[in-house]
Amino acid sequence: MAPPNGPTPMPRPTATAVIGLQWGDEGKGKIVDILAARHDAVVRFNGGANAGHTVIIAGQKYALHLVPVGALTPGAFAIIGNGVVVDPDALIHEMDGLIARGVDCKNVVVSDRAHVVMPYHKDEDALREVLLAGAGEDEPDPAGEPRGARADRSLGTTRRGIGPAYADKHQRSTAIRIGDLLRPERLRETLELACEIKGRTLPRLTSHPPEGVHPHYNPEHLYEKAMRWGERLQPHIRDTAYFLHDLLAREKRLLFEGANATLLDVDHGTFPYVTSSACAVLGIGPGSGVSERRIETVLGVMKAYSTRVGAGPFPTEQKNAIGDRIRERGKEYGTTTGRPRRTGWLDLVAVRYSAMLNGATGLALMLFDVLEGFDEVKICTAYETPAGRTDRFLPDAYALSEAKPVYETLAGFPSLGASGKPPTRRADLHEHARKYLEFVEERVGIPIRFVSIGPDRAQTLEA
Ligand code: IMP
Repeated sequence: MAPPNGPTPMPRPTATAVIGLQWGDEGKGKIVDILAARHDAVVRFNGGANAGHTVIIAGQKYALHLVPVGALTPGAFAIIGNGVVVDPDALIHEMDGLIARGVDCKNVVVSDRAHVVMPYHKDEDALREVLLAGAGEDEPDPAGEPRGARADRSLGTTRRGIGPAYADKHQRSTAIRIGDLLRPERLRETLELACEIKGRTLPRLTSHPPEGVHPHYNPEHLYEKAMRWGERLQPHIRDTAYFLHDLLAREKRLLFEGANATLLDVDHGTFPYVTSSACAVLGIGPGSGVSERRIETVLGVMKAYSTRVGAGPFPTEQKNAIGDRIRERGKEYGTTTGRPRRTGWLDLVAVRYSAMLNGATGLALMLFDVLEGFDEVKICTAYETPAGRTDRFLPDAYALSEAKPVYETLAGFPSLGASGKPPTRRADLHEHARKYLEFVEERVGIPIRFVSIGPDRAQTLEA
């Protein structure tokens, strides 16, 4: 066995990553759930309670936001790495809900270095969105100047405090880490400073605070709340970098569960309409302490079409009966916020880009059944831009908003299966459905390993 604090000379790759290749909600939870049984730990490395992973096991639906899907797998650890921003109220509420349904959460481990989402982070998220949307434009700004009419610049965030919590992490002085919940002195000092700064700044953001937001903070109240969080979470808190390396040294297999998705990555996504973390495989190292060299299989998860929640460019969006049909058939409403998702045809330019960034070794194509019954289906394979036609993605909101999709049209499939029976293998699929899959594989250059044809774990074709 390798010493836990020394690198092995030639580490054997023993990890798998499951990453969304579009704008989120690709169905990663289902794939992670299937793969969890073949791994010893499921690890989150980014994001927070903005994510929503839905898993249906034996007809029972579980909607998870912070707890890794591995919590549902007996014998597996469910690890929240240092790169995650943790809202302890949300985490405790989620664990209590699982425990009430008979899921033992003793296997949930939280990094002492993960950052805490405080109530003022969620308030700031909401206040900034209101300000950016242009509310209060008829009133003078704090300097007494008229604000004037301005365009809606809101990002459509989930208001879970993600951006402000990551901002405080990078500001450092007012950041609180999970480990600080067990250090009363340091916690109290940081909270006093944070409450002073937030109290001076947040009330000035807008005179139209959304309902329920009162941006005045009492450090003593927050301290008591945070101490209760610490007491409750204490048995779960660990140095997860060492914890993970100890597992690797014992030849255990890790499964990294990406939250959000590649096109929402703060560096490589459609900035500024992105989330605030590194959502691709590239975020695993900093967000967990495990080198990418340990990752053997990278499974890129994609829908058979595209969706997006919140603002930002979406070249293949269908604001018409096609989009409505996809939304209804795919039940495209947010797991976290309940918002109707924007829907459109598959954008393979985007998927190819994300597969490249992640070094994807295989694809999982989800919600294939939603396309059943269309006479024809379209796939975007290039963009028309002011600079000409391109098959490269434009990871910048302003450039992408000028791109017009170039489609190739494929024959639709009246039913997924070639016969009347539900397909259990890829070979059972209708000829046109098989052609769709082959088209995707050929254009992305990566094999499809899983095809999902319904919400249940059993409704999955594995190649
Ligand atoms: P935030 O992560 O709450 O700051 O939101 C930033 C943007 O990312 C918004 O457009 C959200 O709708 C989007 N977003 C964040 N997480 C997810 C996710 O898990 N699925 C889909 N969209 C997400």
